[in-house]
Amino acid sequence: MSDSSAPSQPQGELVIRTIAMPADTNSNGDMFGGWMVSQMDLGGAIYARNVSRSRITTVAIDAMTFIHPVYVGDIVSCHAALLKVGRTSIRIEVEAWAQRAKGGEHVHVTKGTFTYVAIDDAGRPQPVHRT
Ligand SMILES: CC(C)(COP(=O)(O)OP(=O)(O)OC[C@H]1O[C@@H](n2cnc3c(N)ncnc32)[C@H](O)[C@@H]1OP(=O)(O)O)[C@@H](O)C(=O)NCCC(=O)NCCS
Repeated sequence: MSDSSAPSQPQGELVIRTIAMPADTNSNGDMFGGWMVSQMDLGGAIYARNVSRSRITTVAIDAMTFIHPVYVGDIVSCHAALLKVGRTSIRIEVEAWAQRAKGGEHVHVTKGTFTYVAIDDAGRPQPVHRT
């Protein structure tokens, strides 16, 4: 089902850009949802690391919405925007867009909220030193 509240262009900073490859397809021949989540998690982590300037780890992924399928050959981009900086956590909205291999149309395909925690060398939460 399409999302009428979806923005008409990407919101936030470009953090990942890649091509959807056949190895990551589901049984329908479209891109596997887990691959999309993985790209978005990587993109959100890049953004969170730049905010915290420390190691971070993913603590939660919420409100994932798969709006449209992604096809092999699409150029997939992830865009991240800061929602909230807590004491040790950083919440980020991540959108994924696909530029269709056929026709070049840009489509908002997926969105979700990713929460990361700044951690020390032992993996314990530490305060975010916001830049
Ligand atoms: C992330 C981790 C270090 C947090 O440790 P913890 O002892 O639970 O830490 P805390 O309870 O102090 O919570 C730390 C922060 O995370 C937030 N948090 C914890 N669970 C959360 C959840 N489910 N959703 C959103 N935020 C959450 C807390 O609110 C807190 O934020 P704040 O300091 O900004 O207020 C620990 O849970 C962990 O190592 N998890 C595994 C992470 C991992 O392997 N990720 C990769 C997945 S494959």
